[in-house]
Amino acid sequence: MTDSLLRRKTIVPDRQEGHGLARTLGWPHLVALGVGAIVGTGILTLIGVGADKAGPAVIVSFLVAGLICACAALAYAEMATMIPASGSAYTYSYVVIGELIAWIVGWSLILEYSLVVSAVAVGWSGYAAPLLQAWANVPMDLMQGPELGGIVNLPAIAIIAVVAGMLLYGTRESATVNAILVVVKIIALAVFVAVALPAFDAANLEPFSPFGFAKHVAPDGVERGIMAAAAIIFFAFYGFDAIATAAEEAKNPDRDLKIGIVGSMLACVAIYVLVAVAAVGAISYSKFANSPEPLALILRELGQPLAAKYLAISAIVALPTVILAFFFGQSRIFFTMARDGLLPKGLARISGRGTPVRITIFTAIVVAILAGFIPLDELAALANAGTLAAFTAVSLCMLIMRRRAPDAPRTFRTPMPWVVGGIAVLGCLYLFFSLPAKTQIWFGIWNVAGLAVYFAYARRNAVAG
Ligand code: ALA
Repeated sequence: MTDSLLRRKTIVPDRQEGHGLARTLGWPHLVALGVGAIVGTGILTLIGVGADKAGPAVIVSFLVAGLICACAALAYAEMATMIPASGSAYTYSYVVIGELIAWIVGWSLILEYSLVVSAVAVGWSGYAAPLLQAWANVPMDLMQGPELGGIVNLPAIAIIAVVAGMLLYGTRESATVNAILVVVKIIALAVFVAVALPAFDAANLEPFSPFGFAKHVAPDGVERGIMAAAAIIFFAFYGFDAIATAAEEAKNPDRDLKIGIVGSMLACVAIYVLVAVAAVGAISYSKFANSPEPLALILRELGQPLAAKYLAISAIVALPTVILAFFFGQSRIFFTMARDGLLPKGLARISGRGTPVRITIFTAIVVAILAGFIPLDELAALANAGTLAAFTAVSLCMLIMRRRAPDAPRTFRTPMPWVVGGIAVLGCLYLFFSLPAKTQIWFGIWNVAGLAVYFAYARRNAVAG
């Protein structure tokens, strides 16, 4: 029994899965791919949730979450170049630690990817709703979930249906379309900074940290503090793992993967901190806290309705690629776990168009229901829980391999591995425990269900080796 829980997979770089793709992507494409999957609802919407929890000190929350995520990204880059196989954190854990942990990581990734799809769809709807209301007279009740006083968030459901349809049709992220949309997003954020930064007023930063550092329950019953905000803001930083899935298309994967992962991460930290400083400096944070479209609201408050509209339209145009990237990642994790025998192979059967049809439709229905009825901050928090579990595992894998096989070839070596790996592991754990208590409970329930599936099915059907 213990043997099977600890059994490890041998590294088989999965060229067998190769679809014979041309090696056309250089590192600028990979950075664009990373930024394309990273910049989304986190910076556009969750900044408002973060401000509610930390006040102007949400800037510090961005720095803390960014630092921890950057350390995890370095470990990720080392593992991605050492084990160039699909399945990312799940596969690294299977190779380095053992089957049970790999299962928990894979099960967490399924949670992460699915809930990111729901969360980004709700974020998309936040920017789309005011325009839909103005242009098509759609009632607000049908564009917000019950906790915000509405009935159902139909735009969020609709965008998931559209992206699922694109995936079923065989749409892959095209590097060119992605690059254009990255430029759209960056210009929108640059416009925001250009308008908001000149309105900077230090008085808006007073008091800087009204809720203190560590997570605690404030008198109104809401969990607040810089770390409580960082645990949510963490959402804004991940997505760089999307680059690893493009390894087979990289011209020079060894060099370009690490530049892609680390470069896109650093670019995003810089952009986000600038946006956060501009946002909290421009108006009092309490005005945009918890808004479904905080950056547009700030621009309107500054008397720039056109810039606000431009930002909203950019979000509407560009956010679906984030949904596409994570939706695709979800089917890829399913595919890899099914290939290893841990999930039924039939679920991951690929159609003629290269898409696992059943799992795509099943995922779409589940994430659409969640997006229709659950608020964004709760979806994002649970997605973060799954991601933090995976990042902790990847960082541990990096450290274990440094000890177990110090001389094995690594095309990318994490600088100061014990410091960086230590910050990543402890930081991810600290972020996890800074998540809302409710989220931690749901994550526990998800994993109990996962372990039931593991012991009832996966362990017996595994084809490790
Ligand atoms: N980092 C991605 C976003 O902010 C998930 O939308």
